[in-house]
Amino acid sequence: MTNLDLYAKAEHLLGIEEATEALYDLYRSELDEYKIKTLLDVGCGRGGFMQRMISDGVVCKGVDLSAVMIDECLAQGLDAECIDVSEVGGKYDAVVSIFDVLNFLDKDALTKFLNAVSQKLNDDGVFIADINTRYGFSDVAEGTMSNDTEEEFLSVDAVFENDELHTKFTLFEKNADGRYTKHQDTIIQYFHKIRAFEKLDSLKLVEKQTFSLYDTEDKTLLIFKKR
Ligand SMILES: C[S@@+](CC[C@H](N)C(=O)[O-])C[C@H]1O[C@@H](n2cnc3c(N)ncnc32)[C@H](O)[C@@H]1O
Repeated sequence: MTNLDLYAKAEHLLGIEEATEALYDLYRSELDEYKIKTLLDVGCGRGGFMQRMISDGVVCKGVDLSAVMIDECLAQGLDAECIDVSEVGGKYDAVVSIFDVLNFLDKDALTKFLNAVSQKLNDDGVFIADINTRYGFSDVAEGTMSNDTEEEFLSVDAVFENDELHTKFTLFEKNADGRYTKHQDTIIQYFHKIRAFEKLDSLKLVEKQTFSLYDTEDKTLLIFKKR
């Protein structure tokens, strides 16, 4: 199992449903302005945002590097593939990357990712993404938590140091025979300064809004147009 697949299996135990809904509302209201017909959701997870946009009449495609996430999208009848954004065919009116997706990328990967996103946009296309602020990492994400159900136990231990958040996930899953299987892996998330988005060759940053999902100014919404 990859570390992204472990995240996918653990996500429902993290207690982020309310924050996710609030983010979806924000993206939906921003996209409203652009009257889009087609949407590419990169890092689509289990497809919750695509479901909402489909109900608004938008044709959606999702990609994610976790096969577990994509299987859940396919089970709901969504158009989704476990491929890198650079491999996506066609062009879209809008691309979104919701809930920290850009923070999963280090500096080099981020540059490649943003160039690939630009190539998937129609001429007047818009790209919207959010990133964690430093407070988002140090005040919200850093720390420990645990949660369990009848079938699973999760512990999470996250440390923010040198602009990187290292989150260790330990998940015990109950098997049919009553024994538990342990899965453990680490996800690294990278803090990005806004400056890194201000002079891109392929995308123009047209708006930035810092906002609070939790009690502190923990996220910044970035809106880009294709150059
Ligand atoms: C915090 S989750 C958010 C999922 C979804 N956007 C949502 O709002 O529910 C981040 C997602 O990004 C995916 N991801 C991480 N790096 C990626 C990449 N380079 N390309 C596509 N997906 C990626 C992960 O597998 C995970 O599903």
